[in-house]
Amino acid sequence: ISEIARVKNLNRLQIGKHEVDAWYFSPYPQEYAHLPVLYICEFCLSYFGSPFMLSRHRKRCNLLHPPGNEIYRHEDLSFFELDGKRQLTWCRNLSMLSKCFLDHKTLYYDVTPFMYYVMCQRDSTGCHIIGYFSKEKESADNYNVACILTLPQHQRHGYGKLLIEFSYELSKKEGKLGSPEKPLSDLGLLGYRAYWAQTIIELLLNTNDDVSIDDIAQRTSITHADVMNTCTTLQLFKHYKGQHVISLPESLQERHKKTLEKRRRKIHPECLQWKPPT
Ligand code: COA
Ligand code: NA
Repeated sequence: ISEIARVKNLNRLQIGKHEVDAWYFSPYPQEYAHLPVLYICEFCLSYFGSPFMLSRHRKRCNLLHPPGNEIYRHEDLSFFELDGKRQLTWCRNLSMLSKCFLDHKTLYYDVTPFMYYVMCQRDSTGCHIIGYFSKEKESADNYNVACILTLPQHQRHGYGKLLIEFSYELSKKEGKLGSPEKPLSDLGLLGYRAYWAQTIIELLLNTNDDVSIDDIAQRTSITHADVMNTCTTLQLFKHYKGQHVISLPESLQERHKKTLEKRRRKIHPECLQWKPPT
């Protein structure tokens, strides 16, 4: 593939009531590649060259939410689980859409080895996609997330952290520790670091005892390596009777309580109706 072919092609995308810039190359068919705006059906994720073509499509498309099972609902947020093999077209459309915002990763054009977890906000007009993550059906490396994306119009509102939190709730149900597939993008790393730090700090604020790396890993499903790195960054290790113990210095507690209070939403594990797919 020549360099030129991989240069960003699309300029803008309209998704539902939002119009956003594409960040990177995405493999939409050639005849769509040079349009000023690509019109996406926000429910089936099909793409069209004009508002007219999209509105004609909407008359026939009666989808109002992602296909697949709704496995979580709390207030106006829902998660749908899709199997890349069974919802092939939808998942391919999602991959093409998300490639517009992902650079470094080889995107999986073969969607069949993955499950997709799509977060939506419900209102009277339907379930509107906010973001998603994909997850290998079988991961030799115990990755619990392959790709993760918050659509640009919804970024910086805490949804990325909710997606991440959800991925760890699935790992807890599987009784496994998990970590995102590497390499992570810069934004992906920022999002994960923020999640790991908040989760570990919250756990420490709610425990009186000193805890070990393994305690934290077992309770959060965050891998030992990720717990270790986070605690090192936050300088939470102290030596006690020849052992490494982890605790939140009192001097930091007030500051962290304030940060946690700002946190907008949480996943409510009791609202997750899910068994690991077999
Ligand atoms: N600049 C600085 N920090 C940022 C940031 C930015 N543009 N975007 C996110 N962060 C950090 C912040 O620390 C933030 O926590 P805070 O708001 O408490 O400070 C934390 O990341 C999480 O933010 P949040 O709002 O929960 O995440 P998001 O909804 O914006 O989603 C991604 C995060 C990574 C999913 C999103 O940026 C994205 O989809 N990026 C493109 C796709 C990608 O790179 N995916 C990861 C690789 S597969
Ligand atoms: Na992605």
